[in-house]
Amino acid sequence: MSTTLLVLNGPNLNLLGTREPATYGTTTLGDIEALVRKHAAGRAEILFEQSNHEGELVGRIHDAGREGHGVILNAGALTHTSLALRDAISGAGVSAIEVHLTNVHRREDFRHHSMIAAVCKGVICGFGSASYTLAVDALLGLD
Ligand code: DQA
Repeated sequence: MSTTLLVLNGPNLNLLGTREPATYGTTTLGDIEALVRKHAAGRAEILFEQSNHEGELVGRIHDAGREGHGVILNAGALTHTSLALRDAISGAGVSAIEVHLTNVHRREDFRHHSMIAAVCKGVICGFGSASYTLAVDALLGLD
């Protein structure tokens, strides 16, 4: 199997399961990883990672660019603030899809703007853990 996808999760997503369950539900990041691996089985190899540090996320995007891996990125709050992540995606030349568990457009105004959407192939939000599996299908269907 030659296709590898990096599923990269940003700040606070390690807390899923106990973090604001009324907003994010009780599914853990481990549950999402298992779901994504099962969904992609036989179609793509999955690298699944989480970091609370912007610089580490930047480095992993650079690695993905060097290796030619597609990227599924839930950058958490850094979505709304990080010019560095935006420049990493465009600079590394990766095919990336921005994902969110929640529909950020139904939430606070400060979540409506994404720094990274314009350099991603597309954005999927509001479908809970299915946002990730939809992104796998979208990325595998891209040229
Ligand atoms: C999130 C939405 C962001 O606004 C928030 O900061 C998160 C999670 C989501 O998956 O819904 O950490 O990316």
